Amino acid sequence: MSVRPLRVGVAGLGQGAGGVMPSMAAMPEIDLIAGADINPKMRKGFEERYPGTRTYDTVAGLAKDPDVEAIWVSTPNKYHCEHAIEAMRNGKHVAVEKPMAIDLAEADRMCEAAEKYGVKLLAGHTSSYGLGVRAMRRVAIEGGLGEVRAIFIWSYTDWMLRPRTADELVFEQGGGLIHRQGPHQIDTLRLLGGGMLRSVRGTTGSWHKERPIPGFYTAYMEFEDGTPATILHNGYGYFLTAELYPWAPPMHRYQESDRVRFRKGMRAGARDEETEKAAYRIGGAQDKTLQKAPTEMPPWTPYDMGMLVLSCDRGDVRHSKYGLTIYGDDGPRELDLRPFGRNEADFEGGVTLQALEELHAAIVLDQPLYHSGAWGRATLEAALAIITSGRERREILLERQVPMPASYDLDFRLNTTTATISTRD
Ligand SMILES: NC(=O)c1ccc[n+]([C@@H]2O[C@H](COP(=O)([O-])OP(=O)(O)OC[C@H]3O[C@@H](n4cnc5c(N)ncnc54)[C@H](O)[C@@H]3O)[C@@H](O)[C@H]2O)c1
Repeated sequence: MSVRPLRVGVAGLGQGAGGVMPSMAAMPEIDLIAGADINPKMRKGFEERYPGTRTYDTVAGLAKDPDVEAIWVSTPNKYHCEHAIEAMRNGKHVAVEKPMAIDLAEADRMCEAAEKYGVKLLAGHTSSYGLGVRAMRRVAIEGGLGEVRAIFIWSYTDWMLRPRTADELVFEQGGGLIHRQGPHQIDTLRLLGGGMLRSVRGTTGSWHKERPIPGFYTAYMEFEDGTPATILHNGYGYFLTAELYPWAPPMHRYQESDRVRFRKGMRAGARDEETEKAAYRIGGAQDKTLQKAPTEMPPWTPYDMGMLVLSCDRGDVRHSKYGLTIYGDDGPRELDLRPFGRNEADFEGGVTLQALEELHAAIVLDQPLYHSGAWGRATLEAALAIITSGRERREILLERQVPMPASYDLDFRLNTTTATISTRD
Protein backbone atom coordinates (compact mmCIF):
# COMPACT_ATOMS: atom_id res chain seq x y z
CA MET A 1 0.00 0.00 0.00
CA SER A 2 1.48 3.36 -0.89
CA VAL A 3 1.12 6.10 1.67
CA ARG A 4 1.76 9.80 1.50
CA PRO A 5 4.91 10.44 3.51
CA LEU A 6 5.03 12.99 6.29
CA ARG A 7 7.61 15.72 5.70
CA VAL A 8 9.70 15.94 8.86
CA GLY A 9 12.39 18.28 10.15
CA VAL A 10 14.62 17.48 13.13
CA ALA A 11 15.49 20.12 15.74
CA GLY A 12 18.79 19.26 17.47
CA LEU A 13 20.94 16.95 15.35
CA GLY A 14 22.90 15.36 18.21
CA GLN A 15 23.30 11.88 19.60
CA GLY A 16 19.63 11.19 20.31
CA ALA A 17 18.60 12.39 16.85
CA GLY A 18 21.29 10.12 15.39
CA GLY A 19 19.40 7.13 16.76
CA VAL A 20 16.15 8.25 15.18
CA MET A 21 17.16 9.58 11.77
CA PRO A 22 18.09 6.18 10.23
CA SER A 23 14.51 5.04 10.84
CA MET A 24 13.17 8.28 9.37
CA ALA A 25 15.36 7.88 6.30
CA ALA A 26 14.31 4.24 5.83
CA MET A 27 10.57 4.44 6.42
CA PRO A 28 8.26 5.06 3.47
CA GLU A 29 5.96 6.96 5.85
CA ILE A 30 8.58 9.65 6.50
CA ASP A 31 10.41 12.18 4.30
CA LEU A 32 13.31 13.58 6.28
CA ILE A 33 13.73 16.97 4.61
CA ALA A 34 15.35 19.41 7.04
CA GLY A 35 17.25 19.90 10.27
CA ALA A 36 18.28 22.63 12.69
CA ASP A 37 21.25 22.88 15.00
CA ILE A 38 23.34 25.69 16.43
CA ASN A 39 26.47 23.65 15.71
CA PRO A 40 27.67 24.08 12.08
CA LYS A 41 29.42 20.67 12.19
CA MET A 42 26.12 18.97 12.88
CA ARG A 43 24.39 20.85 10.06
CA LYS A 44 27.13 19.97 7.57
CA GLY A 45 27.20 16.33 8.69
CA PHE A 46 23.41 16.07 8.39
CA GLU A 47 23.33 17.53 4.86
CA GLU A 48 26.10 15.16 3.77
CA ARG A 49 24.45 12.11 5.34
CA TYR A 50 21.02 12.90 3.92
CA PRO A 51 21.55 14.55 0.51
CA GLY A 52 18.82 16.90 -0.61
CA THR A 53 18.00 18.07 2.91
CA ARG A 54 18.37 21.66 4.09
CA THR A 55 19.45 23.04 7.45
CA TYR A 56 18.87 26.04 9.73
CA ASP A 57 20.93 27.44 12.56
CA THR A 58 17.86 28.07 14.70
CA VAL A 59 14.71 26.11 15.47
CA ALA A 60 12.75 29.27 14.63
CA GLY A 61 14.18 29.09 11.10
CA LEU A 62 13.18 25.43 10.73
CA ALA A 63 9.71 26.21 12.10
CA LYS A 64 9.19 28.73 9.29
CA ASP A 65 10.10 26.26 6.52
CA PRO A 66 6.83 25.98 4.56
CA ASP A 67 7.60 22.41 3.40
CA VAL A 68 8.05 20.97 6.89
CA GLU A 69 4.88 19.49 8.36
CA ALA A 70 6.21 18.09 11.62
CA ILE A 71 9.25 18.76 13.79
CA TRP A 72 10.99 16.13 15.90
CA VAL A 73 12.41 18.04 18.89
CA SER A 74 15.63 16.48 20.17
CA THR A 75 17.42 19.51 21.50
CA PRO A 76 18.57 19.45 25.17
CA ASN A 77 15.79 19.03 27.75
CA LYS A 78 15.81 22.66 28.86
CA TYR A 79 14.71 23.71 25.35
CA HIS A 80 11.94 21.15 24.75
CA CYS A 81 9.13 23.47 25.80
CA GLU A 82 10.45 26.54 23.99
CA HIS A 83 11.23 24.68 20.76
CA ALA A 84 8.00 22.67 20.71
CA ILE A 85 5.94 25.83 21.18
CA GLU A 86 7.95 27.69 18.55
CA ALA A 87 7.18 24.89 16.10
CA MET A 88 3.49 24.69 17.02
CA ARG A 89 3.10 28.48 16.83
CA ASN A 90 4.19 28.16 13.21
CA GLY A 91 1.60 25.49 12.53
CA LYS A 92 3.92 22.48 12.75
CA HIS A 93 3.02 19.20 14.39
CA VAL A 94 5.55 18.16 17.00
CA ALA A 95 7.10 15.00 18.41
CA VAL A 96 9.10 15.89 21.50
CA GLU A 97 11.79 13.68 22.96
CA LYS A 98 11.54 12.46 26.50
CA PRO A 99 11.43 14.04 28.99
CA MET A 100 8.63 16.07 27.49
CA ALA A 101 9.58 19.07 29.65
CA ILE A 102 11.34 19.95 32.87
CA ASP A 103 8.26 20.72 34.92
CA LEU A 104 4.47 20.52 34.75
CA ALA A 105 4.02 24.23 34.03
CA GLU A 106 6.04 23.75 30.82
CA ALA A 107 4.06 20.62 29.94
CA ASP A 108 0.82 22.56 30.45
CA ARG A 109 1.98 25.31 28.11
CA MET A 110 2.87 22.73 25.47
CA CYS A 111 -0.52 21.00 25.71
CA GLU A 112 -2.27 24.36 25.52
CA ALA A 113 -0.24 25.34 22.45
CA ALA A 114 -1.21 22.13 20.63
CA GLU A 115 -4.84 22.94 21.35
CA LYS A 116 -4.56 26.61 20.46
CA TYR A 117 -2.74 26.09 17.14
CA GLY A 118 -4.69 22.96 16.19
CA VAL A 119 -1.66 20.69 15.78
CA LYS A 120 -0.67 17.25 17.10
CA LEU A 121 1.83 16.90 19.91
CA LEU A 122 3.41 13.47 20.44
CA ALA A 123 5.25 13.08 23.76
CA GLY A 124 6.39 9.59 24.47
CA HIS A 125 9.28 8.26 22.41
CA THR A 126 10.12 5.67 25.03
CA SER A 127 10.79 1.96 25.45
CA SER A 128 7.05 1.46 25.91
CA TYR A 129 6.83 1.32 22.10
CA GLY A 130 9.07 -1.76 21.98
CA LEU A 131 7.60 -4.85 20.41
CA GLY A 132 8.03 -6.85 23.61
CA VAL A 133 6.13 -4.30 25.72
CA ARG A 134 3.28 -3.94 23.23
CA ALA A 135 3.04 -7.70 22.92
CA MET A 136 2.98 -8.03 26.70
CA ARG A 137 0.06 -5.63 26.79
CA ARG A 138 -1.78 -7.73 24.23
CA VAL A 139 -1.08 -10.90 26.22
CA ALA A 140 -2.55 -9.17 29.28
CA ILE A 141 -5.65 -8.24 27.26
CA GLU A 142 -6.22 -11.39 25.22
CA GLY A 143 -3.92 -14.05 26.69
CA GLY A 144 -6.35 -15.61 29.14
CA LEU A 145 -4.23 -14.92 32.22
CA GLY A 146 -6.85 -12.84 33.99
CA GLU A 147 -6.44 -9.33 35.40
CA VAL A 148 -3.11 -7.50 35.58
CA ARG A 149 -2.09 -7.72 39.24
CA ALA A 150 1.45 -6.31 39.48
CA ILE A 151 4.23 -4.82 37.34
CA PHE A 152 7.92 -4.95 38.15
CA ILE A 153 10.73 -3.17 36.25
CA TRP A 154 14.32 -3.42 37.40
CA SER A 155 17.32 -1.87 35.67
CA TYR A 156 21.04 -1.68 36.43
CA THR A 157 22.96 0.15 33.69
CA ASP A 158 26.08 2.20 32.99
CA TRP A 159 24.01 5.31 32.25
CA MET A 160 25.98 7.51 34.67
CA LEU A 161 29.27 6.62 33.03
CA ARG A 162 28.26 7.86 29.58
CA PRO A 163 29.75 11.18 28.46
CA ARG A 164 27.63 14.22 29.21
CA THR A 165 27.55 17.82 28.08
CA ALA A 166 27.71 20.48 30.81
CA ASP A 167 23.96 21.09 30.78
CA GLU A 168 23.18 17.39 31.18
CA LEU A 169 24.88 17.62 34.55
CA VAL A 170 22.50 20.28 35.85
CA PHE A 171 19.51 18.74 37.62
CA GLU A 172 17.39 21.90 37.30
CA GLN A 173 17.80 21.75 33.52
CA GLY A 174 16.49 18.21 33.34
CA GLY A 175 19.79 16.43 33.96
CA GLY A 176 19.98 13.07 35.70
CA LEU A 177 18.52 9.62 35.65
CA ILE A 178 14.97 10.42 36.69
CA HIS A 179 14.33 12.99 33.95
CA ARG A 180 16.14 11.08 31.25
CA GLN A 181 15.38 7.45 32.09
CA GLY A 182 12.26 7.64 34.26
CA PRO A 183 9.98 8.11 31.22
CA HIS A 184 11.01 4.73 29.73
CA GLN A 185 9.92 2.75 32.77
CA ILE A 186 6.95 4.95 33.73
CA ASP A 187 5.49 5.03 30.21
CA THR A 188 5.86 1.26 30.10
CA LEU A 189 4.13 0.55 33.37
CA ARG A 190 1.40 3.07 32.57
CA LEU A 191 0.81 1.39 29.22
CA LEU A 192 0.59 -2.05 30.83
CA GLY A 193 -1.55 -0.88 33.75
CA GLY A 194 -3.92 1.28 31.70
CA GLY A 195 -2.46 4.71 32.39
CA MET A 196 -4.23 5.88 35.53
CA LEU A 197 -1.72 5.98 38.36
CA ARG A 198 -3.04 7.09 41.73
CA SER A 199 0.03 7.60 43.89
CA VAL A 200 3.80 7.47 44.08
CA ARG A 201 6.19 6.79 46.94
CA GLY A 202 9.75 6.94 45.74
CA THR A 203 13.19 8.34 46.17
CA THR A 204 16.20 9.36 44.12
CA GLY A 205 19.89 8.99 44.93
CA SER A 206 22.84 11.13 43.94
CA TRP A 207 25.73 9.12 45.31
CA HIS A 208 28.84 10.37 43.52
CA LYS A 209 29.89 13.94 44.19
CA GLU A 210 31.82 14.06 40.92
CA ARG A 211 28.49 13.50 39.10
CA PRO A 212 26.07 15.93 40.78
CA ILE A 213 22.86 14.50 39.29
CA PRO A 214 20.64 11.61 40.38
CA GLY A 215 22.02 8.26 39.27
CA PHE A 216 19.48 6.13 41.11
CA TYR A 217 15.75 6.07 41.71
CA THR A 218 13.21 3.61 42.94
CA ALA A 219 9.47 3.92 43.42
CA TYR A 220 6.34 2.11 44.42
CA MET A 221 3.42 3.27 42.31
CA GLU A 222 -0.20 2.32 42.61
CA PHE A 223 -2.89 2.51 39.96
CA GLU A 224 -6.41 3.79 40.66
CA ASP A 225 -7.64 0.19 40.75
CA GLY A 226 -5.04 -0.77 43.35
CA THR A 227 -2.59 -2.55 41.01
CA PRO A 228 0.96 -2.04 42.33
CA ALA A 229 4.07 -1.37 40.28
CA THR A 230 7.67 -1.09 41.39
CA ILE A 231 10.44 0.48 39.36
CA LEU A 232 14.15 0.79 39.96
CA HIS A 233 17.05 2.14 37.96
CA ASN A 234 20.63 2.24 39.18
CA GLY A 235 22.84 3.87 36.53
CA TYR A 236 26.18 3.72 38.35
CA GLY A 237 27.45 0.88 36.17
CA TYR A 238 28.72 -1.66 38.71
CA PHE A 239 26.28 -4.57 38.29
CA LEU A 240 24.42 -4.58 34.95
CA THR A 241 21.05 -6.26 34.43
CA ALA A 242 22.29 -7.46 31.04
CA GLU A 243 24.63 -9.87 32.87
CA LEU A 244 21.60 -11.96 33.77
CA TYR A 245 20.76 -12.72 30.14
CA PRO A 246 23.02 -15.41 28.64
CA TRP A 247 22.43 -14.20 25.08
CA ALA A 248 23.04 -10.48 25.79
CA PRO A 249 26.51 -9.13 24.95
CA PRO A 250 28.87 -9.38 27.96
CA MET A 251 28.78 -5.60 28.28
CA HIS A 252 26.21 -2.87 28.10
CA ARG A 253 27.70 0.09 26.31
CA TYR A 254 31.17 -0.38 27.76
CA GLN A 255 33.54 -3.15 28.70
CA GLU A 256 34.38 -3.55 32.39
CA SER A 257 37.84 -2.01 31.76
CA ASP A 258 36.24 1.11 30.22
CA ARG A 259 33.96 1.50 33.21
CA VAL A 260 36.89 1.33 35.61
CA ARG A 261 38.77 3.92 33.53
CA PHE A 262 35.79 6.31 33.31
CA ARG A 263 35.17 6.14 37.05
CA LYS A 264 38.80 6.95 37.77
CA GLY A 265 38.82 9.74 35.18
CA MET A 266 35.74 11.36 36.65
CA ARG A 267 36.98 11.15 40.22
CA ALA A 268 40.21 12.81 39.13
CA GLY A 269 38.26 15.43 37.13
CA ALA A 270 40.27 14.39 34.08
CA ARG A 271 37.68 13.18 31.62
CA ASP A 272 37.03 15.16 28.42
CA GLU A 273 33.35 14.34 28.10
CA GLU A 274 32.48 16.90 25.41
CA THR A 275 34.97 15.25 23.04
CA GLU A 276 33.83 11.77 24.00
CA LYS A 277 30.18 12.66 23.45
CA ALA A 278 30.98 14.13 20.03
CA ALA A 279 32.06 10.62 18.98
CA TYR A 280 28.41 9.52 19.20
CA ARG A 281 27.13 12.29 16.96
CA ILE A 282 27.15 12.54 13.15
CA GLY A 283 30.73 12.27 11.87
CA GLY A 284 32.03 10.68 15.10
CA ALA A 285 33.59 7.23 15.50
CA GLN A 286 30.36 5.80 16.98
CA ASP A 287 28.01 7.65 14.59
CA LYS A 288 24.70 5.79 14.77
CA THR A 289 23.49 7.21 11.47
CA LEU A 290 26.06 4.98 9.75
CA GLN A 291 24.91 1.74 11.36
CA LYS A 292 23.32 -0.73 9.03
CA ALA A 293 19.80 -1.90 9.74
CA PRO A 294 19.80 -5.41 11.17
CA THR A 295 18.64 -7.95 8.59
CA GLU A 296 16.67 -9.81 11.22
CA MET A 297 15.38 -8.97 14.67
CA PRO A 298 18.29 -9.03 17.13
CA PRO A 299 17.84 -10.88 20.45
CA TRP A 300 16.10 -8.85 23.12
CA THR A 301 18.33 -7.28 25.75
CA PRO A 302 17.21 -5.22 28.73
CA TYR A 303 18.88 -2.04 27.31
CA ASP A 304 18.13 0.85 29.64
CA MET A 305 14.56 -0.02 30.52
CA GLY A 306 15.58 -3.21 32.27
CA MET A 307 13.96 -6.45 33.21
CA LEU A 308 10.18 -6.37 33.16
CA VAL A 309 7.80 -8.88 34.72
CA LEU A 310 4.04 -8.61 34.42
CA SER A 311 1.97 -10.64 36.86
CA CYS A 312 -1.65 -11.53 36.20
CA ASP A 313 -4.18 -13.64 38.16
CA ARG A 314 -3.03 -16.86 36.58
CA GLY A 315 0.44 -16.30 35.25
CA ASP A 316 3.50 -14.13 34.66
CA VAL A 317 5.02 -12.73 31.47
CA ARG A 318 8.62 -11.73 30.82
CA HIS A 319 10.86 -11.03 27.83
CA SER A 320 12.75 -13.92 26.29
CA LYS A 321 15.44 -14.07 23.61
CA TYR A 322 13.14 -13.41 20.64
CA GLY A 323 9.82 -12.74 22.29
CA LEU A 324 7.98 -13.45 25.48
CA THR A 325 7.81 -16.31 27.92
CA ILE A 326 4.25 -16.65 29.14
CA TYR A 327 3.93 -18.67 32.35
CA GLY A 328 0.44 -20.05 32.95
CA ASP A 329 -1.37 -22.86 34.70
CA ASP A 330 -0.21 -25.33 32.03
CA GLY A 331 3.44 -24.32 32.27
CA PRO A 332 5.52 -21.83 30.25
CA ARG A 333 4.98 -21.06 26.56
CA GLU A 334 7.21 -19.13 24.16
CA LEU A 335 5.78 -16.41 21.94
CA ASP A 336 8.17 -15.65 19.06
CA LEU A 337 7.86 -11.99 18.07
CA ARG A 338 10.17 -12.10 15.06
CA PRO A 339 7.31 -12.26 12.54
CA PHE A 340 5.96 -8.98 13.91
CA GLY A 341 9.06 -6.83 13.39
CA ARG A 342 9.66 -4.39 10.54
CA ASN A 343 12.84 -4.46 8.49
CA GLU A 344 13.79 -0.79 8.50
CA ALA A 345 16.61 0.50 10.65
CA ASP A 346 15.78 0.60 14.32
CA PHE A 347 18.29 -0.35 16.91
CA GLU A 348 15.99 -0.59 19.90
CA GLY A 349 13.41 -3.23 19.16
CA GLY A 350 11.04 -1.17 17.05
CA VAL A 351 10.67 1.72 19.51
CA THR A 352 11.42 4.51 17.03
CA LEU A 353 9.55 2.90 14.14
CA GLN A 354 6.43 2.69 16.25
CA ALA A 355 6.62 6.29 17.41
CA LEU A 356 7.06 7.46 13.83
CA GLU A 357 4.23 5.21 12.64
CA GLU A 358 1.94 6.76 15.24
CA LEU A 359 2.99 10.28 14.26
CA HIS A 360 2.40 9.58 10.58
CA ALA A 361 -0.95 7.89 11.17
CA ALA A 362 -2.18 10.77 13.33
CA ILE A 363 -1.22 13.50 10.89
CA VAL A 364 -1.55 11.94 7.45
CA LEU A 365 -4.26 9.33 8.09
CA ASP A 366 -6.12 11.35 10.74
CA GLN A 367 -6.01 8.52 13.26
CA PRO A 368 -5.91 9.15 17.02
CA LEU A 369 -2.66 10.20 18.62
CA TYR A 370 -2.22 8.01 21.67
CA HIS A 371 1.07 9.28 23.13
CA SER A 372 -0.31 12.80 23.23
CA GLY A 373 0.88 15.78 25.23
CA ALA A 374 -1.55 14.78 27.99
CA TRP A 375 -0.08 11.26 28.04
CA GLY A 376 3.47 12.63 28.26
CA ARG A 377 2.46 15.11 30.96
CA ALA A 378 1.02 12.27 33.07
CA THR A 379 4.31 10.38 32.80
CA LEU A 380 6.24 13.53 33.71
CA GLU A 381 3.94 14.04 36.71
CA ALA A 382 4.79 10.56 38.02
CA ALA A 383 8.53 11.09 37.44
CA LEU A 384 8.52 14.42 39.27
CA ALA A 385 6.51 12.83 42.09
CA ILE A 386 9.41 10.42 42.73
CA ILE A 387 11.64 13.44 43.36
CA THR A 388 9.11 15.18 45.63
CA SER A 389 8.30 11.96 47.46
CA GLY A 390 11.96 11.31 48.18
CA ARG A 391 12.56 14.86 49.36
CA GLU A 392 9.48 15.02 51.59
CA ARG A 393 9.44 11.33 52.55
CA ARG A 394 5.75 10.86 51.86
CA GLU A 395 3.36 9.42 49.32
CA ILE A 396 2.34 11.81 46.52
CA LEU A 397 -1.15 11.69 45.04
CA LEU A 398 -1.32 12.29 41.29
CA GLU A 399 -3.83 14.56 39.56
CA ARG A 400 -2.94 14.69 35.88
CA GLN A 401 -3.23 11.05 34.84
CA VAL A 402 -4.97 9.99 31.62
CA PRO A 403 -5.88 6.48 30.43
CA MET A 404 -4.53 4.74 27.36
CA PRO A 405 -7.63 4.31 25.17
CA ALA A 406 -8.69 0.71 24.53
CA SER A 407 -8.37 1.33 20.79
CA TYR A 408 -4.58 1.72 21.06
CA ASP A 409 -2.68 -0.88 19.04
CA LEU A 410 -5.81 -2.84 18.13
CA ASP A 411 -4.33 -3.86 14.80
CA PHE A 412 -1.44 -5.56 16.64
CA ARG A 413 -3.00 -8.92 17.35
CA LEU A 414 -1.17 -11.93 18.67
CA ASN A 415 -2.29 -15.46 18.27
CA THR A 416 -1.17 -16.53 21.71
CA THR A 417 -2.72 -19.96 21.36
CA THR A 418 -0.10 -20.82 18.74
CA ALA A 419 2.74 -19.89 21.07
CA THR A 420 4.96 -22.94 21.20
CA ILE A 421 4.98 -24.93 24.41
CA SER A 422 8.36 -24.69 26.07
CA THR A 423 10.28 -27.95 26.35
CA ARG A 424 11.68 -27.07 29.77
CA ASP A 425 10.46 -29.00 32.74
N1 LIG B 1 14.26 8.51 23.39
C1 LIG B 1 15.50 8.15 23.57
O1 LIG B 1 15.76 6.95 23.73
C2 LIG B 1 16.62 9.18 23.58
C3 LIG B 1 17.95 8.80 23.43
C4 LIG B 1 18.94 9.77 23.48
C5 LIG B 1 18.59 11.10 23.68
N2 LIG B 1 17.30 11.46 23.82
C6 LIG B 1 16.91 12.87 24.06
O2 LIG B 1 17.45 13.71 23.05
C7 LIG B 1 17.69 15.01 23.60
C8 LIG B 1 19.10 15.46 23.24
O3 LIG B 1 20.06 14.61 23.89
P1 LIG B 1 21.40 14.21 23.14
O4 LIG B 1 22.05 13.14 23.94
O5 LIG B 1 21.13 13.96 21.69
O6 LIG B 1 22.27 15.55 23.28
P2 LIG B 1 23.26 16.15 22.23
O7 LIG B 1 24.00 17.22 22.95
O8 LIG B 1 24.07 15.08 21.55
O9 LIG B 1 22.31 16.78 21.11
C9 LIG B 1 21.65 18.00 21.25
C10 LIG B 1 21.84 18.79 19.96
O10 LIG B 1 21.07 19.98 20.05
C11 LIG B 1 21.84 21.06 19.57
N3 LIG B 1 21.36 22.30 20.21
C12 LIG B 1 21.62 22.75 21.47
N4 LIG B 1 20.96 23.90 21.69
C13 LIG B 1 20.27 24.17 20.54
C14 LIG B 1 19.42 25.25 20.16
N5 LIG B 1 19.12 26.25 21.00
N6 LIG B 1 18.90 25.22 18.90
C15 LIG B 1 19.19 24.20 18.05
N7 LIG B 1 20.01 23.18 18.35
C16 LIG B 1 20.53 23.16 19.61
C17 LIG B 1 23.27 20.72 19.97
O11 LIG B 1 24.22 21.43 19.17
C18 LIG B 1 23.29 19.21 19.75
O12 LIG B 1 23.71 18.87 18.43
C19 LIG B 1 17.45 14.89 25.11
O13 LIG B 1 16.18 15.41 25.39
C20 LIG B 1 17.46 13.40 25.37
O14 LIG B 1 16.64 13.03 26.47
C21 LIG B 1 16.31 10.52 23.76
